Parts: sequence; C-alpha cells; structure tokens
Amino acid sequence: MSTISIIAALSENNAIGKKQQLLWHMPYDMKRFKELTTGHAVVMGRKTFESLPKGALPNRKNIVLTTLPEAGFVDCFACESMHDALDICEKEDEIFMIGGAMVYKQALEIADKMYLTRVHHVFEDADTFFPEINFDEWEEIECQQFSADEKHIYPYTFLTYIRKK
Ligand SMILES: NC(=O)c1ccc[n+]([C@@H]2O[C@H](COP(=O)([O-])OP(=O)(O)OC[C@H]3O[C@@H](n4cnc5c(N)ncnc54)[C@H](OP(=O)(O)O)[C@@H]3O)[C@@H](O)[C@H]2O)c1
Repeated sequence: MSTISIIAALSENNAIGKKQQLLWHMPYDMKRFKELTTGHAVVMGRKTFESLPKGALPNRKNIVLTTLPEAGFVDCFACESMHDALDICEKEDEIFMIGGAMVYKQALEIADKMYLTRVHHVFEDADTFFPEINFDEWEEIECQQFSADEKHIYPYTFLTYIRKK
C-alpha cells in the first residue's frame, strides 16, 4: 500500500496562493519539498501545474488532474479523476499531493500523512486557501521552528502529522 502524503505551505490564515502563484519565496521550504518528493509521485491540479515555472518537476512521476487531459501536459500523466491518479501510482511507496486547494480538499479525505510548512504571517489579500483541517484526526510527529533570516522574510515551522488510527 502506498502512503498518501499532503505537502503544503500555508499561512496563519491558511492562505496558499494568490493569482495562481505562491505568496512567498522560501528557499529552505523549497529545498525540503524537493528532498521529500524527489523519486516519488506528485499529484497536482491543472492550475498548479500551469504555475510551475519550468513545467513538470524533474525526477518525479508528475500527475496532473484535469477534465481536459487531451490538452497535453509535457512529461506528465494527465488524469481525469483522483481514482485514476491513484491507480497510476499503485506501485509507488509514497504519493505526494502537492496542491492546489482543490486537490488538497480531495486529498484530506484520503491522506495518511501531512508535511505542512506554517508561514507565520497573515495574508489578507490571498485568493486561495487550504481547506479546514480537523486536527483531532491528526497526530503531530515533528515540529521544527525557524526564525526569519536574510532569505526568509517570515518565520516558519515545519510540521509533520500522521492520521490517528
Ligand atoms: N502553498 C502551497 O503549498 C501551494 C501548493 C500548490 C499550489 N498552490 C497555489 O494554489 C493555487 C492553485 O490552486 P487551485 O485550487 O486554484 O487549483 P488546483 O487545485 O491547482 O487546480 C484545479 C484544477 O485541477 C483539476 N482537478 C482538480 N481535481 C480534479 C479531479 N478530481 N478530476 C479532474 N480534474 C481535477 C481541474 O482542472 P481543469 O480545469 O483542467 O479541469 C481544476 O480546475 C495557486 O495559487 C498555487 O500557487 C499553493
């Protein structure tokens, strides 16, 4: 059985994006994202795929959810349902749900694990938000806090959760 993992960076008010982009530049978060997801499958919504500056993420099996799979997604598998996406990943040990909001909403129902980066700032003008999480269902197994520094405007925390049995 594959582990289904959500990976997301969200602000204090659960903001994840604005105008189809991220709200921050956080090199250390990107490094963690790359380390965790490389060699695994990543499942994303069509809008998130289109926001990637260089297209498909290298050294990962890229799966794009879309109702228009014939539109052509270079170096990706296009899937018309989450069910199809999970089928394609049957042999993967870990499947990462990498967003955006529409995909996180579906992923929250089925995920075993969550890697969250909490960005300690409120973004009033965001237009895309992580769905509400019922933390009663999740056990925190890792928490690493970081202060703002010359490369990171906002303090942030890496948090890992596993779904309670
Ligand atoms: N902070 C973070 O960690 C993070 C991570 C990822 C993305 N983001 C941000 O999130 C925003 C995008 O999120 P979003 O919610 O607007 O869009 P999204 O989830 O990236 O993409 C939505 C699209 O995915 C397709 N889709 C989703 N579920 C599907 C299903 N079950 N079956 C078939 N197609 C499905 C549909 O594509 P079609 O319209 O083609 O049918 C839908 O319009 C951007 O601002 C991005 O930067 C943030």
